[in-house]
Amino acid sequence: MKPTFANPVLPKTGTVVVPILDGRKLLASAKNLDKQMKGGLMRAIKASQFKGSKGHSLHLLAPAGTKLDRVMVVGLGKPTDVTDSAMQAMGGRIYTALASKGKTASVLIDSVEKSKMSPARMAAEVAYGGRLASYRFDKYRTKARRHNKPTLKTVKVLSSGTAQARKLYRDMDKVADGVFFTRDLVSEPSNVLYPETLAAEAKKLAKLGVKVEVLGEARMRKLGMGALLGVGQGSVHEPKLVVMQWNGAPKSKEKPIAFVGKGVTFDTGGISIKPSGGMEDMKWDMAGSGVVIGLMKALAGRKAKVNAVAVVGLVENMPGGNAQRPGDIVTSMSGQTIEVLNTDAEGRLVLADALWYTKERFKPKFMVNLATLTGAIIVCLGNERAGLFSNNDVLSKRLSDAGDAVSEQLWRFPMGDVYDKMINCDIADMKNISGGRGAGSITAAQFLKRFVGTTPWAHLDIAGVTWSNKAKPTVPKGGTAFGVRLLDRMVKDYYEAK
Ligand code: BES
Ligand code: MN
Ligand code: ZN
Repeated sequence: MKPTFANPVLPKTGTVVVPILDGRKLLASAKNLDKQMKGGLMRAIKASQFKGSKGHSLHLLAPAGTKLDRVMVVGLGKPTDVTDSAMQAMGGRIYTALASKGKTASVLIDSVEKSKMSPARMAAEVAYGGRLASYRFDKYRTKARRHNKPTLKTVKVLSSGTAQARKLYRDMDKVADGVFFTRDLVSEPSNVLYPETLAAEAKKLAKLGVKVEVLGEARMRKLGMGALLGVGQGSVHEPKLVVMQWNGAPKSKEKPIAFVGKGVTFDTGGISIKPSGGMEDMKWDMAGSGVVIGLMKALAGRKAKVNAVAVVGLVENMPGGNAQRPGDIVTSMSGQTIEVLNTDAEGRLVLADALWYTKERFKPKFMVNLATLTGAIIVCLGNERAGLFSNNDVLSKRLSDAGDAVSEQLWRFPMGDVYDKMINCDIADMKNISGGRGAGSITAAQFLKRFVGTTPWAHLDIAGVTWSNKAKPTVPKGGTAFGVRLLDRMVKDYYEAK
């Protein structure tokens, strides 16, 4: 769906959406429409349960006195409910309600007294929410396609200040492009998306001016990435490390910020094999890398004034004649040795080398890694928030604030020596699981921390928020791309040249 922007004139035909406030308070366009309908709109509203609360709506078909086909009245709630995220949610609900009700719809945006938002900003956010809600992954539905396909192609957002609305929307549209790219990557099955093909997808960012390098097994062997390579050795697919650089800062020598992603294109568990029930979910064990790639697309798409690097470690974790065994000891690029007691704790092995490489090569201002790292984080936080683990309070606060602002929320966990000790090992520098039953997400984070040196670093455990079985207004079921909007926001608020 593509939104367009124009002046707030009530259309004569087609589908029209008008907002009202809580307490059945009509705004300018609803009043205008009510007049054309000789009071019919207010009568319909009164005859229904609809009061104008946030998230509620009422549909009227072919209202007398007009040539309109459909009027959708949407509730804004109270003036204080009119916020960025509420407007996005409203846009999402409008799109979803009208998706199969014709080709176009017009949404009127009235100014709301006592609200801090301008009509232009409201219009842009409604458009953004509508676009985010319009995501579909239906490329493999060859039969159902024609019937189930949404018909709504254009949403016309009508408000004052259209030039400003268009300008605000421009960057949002680029972020949505990044979100869609991530959702596509996360949704692809693992017979189609494996290290080589995922690296090829990342290469497409070159069109936007991103420098993309792909390192193969031989190169990684020379660099000493024994931890990452051990995970991939049971698969027929060669592991890859993809390095992406976006240089948008006015000072080209400015130190970059860095993002690192776990890209396990399928996680069977390896020789420590997983139970078969639900194993199909492990196609999205590459979501950390998918988010990082989508974020680079967003930053490059909107030409962010920042230097950013992204590194993703891509491997398939399979059992097989050459697979890594429990008890194997591997040497990471950092020189630290690891006893692999459980081949299913593979994400941390991949990230160990990817983080060390990023730190050594780029000396970044900070590193944020994303990973579907532990099932334990789902026990802690369910599907509502991602876990945040960090060695730096300023970075943590910035990430948390950005998450609150875009409704991709985080919850920070403690770290410390007592947890660190749990992965000490008798015959190597560390083991890849604690062996105990508690604090599984924290000990995983402690493991990663051993590979970041003194660089400010944060780890987002996104295992619980990457895939959703319940649609939200701007996030359809399936791959969520959780993290793209959050990190884009953090970059914009704290790291971009003005
Ligand atoms: N990819 C999984 C974590 C995961 C589980 C993500 C469920 C999404 C949904 C990870 O590689 C894993 O297998 N972790 C193990 C660690 C354990 C062996 C210490 C886990 O969480 O069970
Ligand atoms: Mn695993
Ligand atoms: Zn995994």
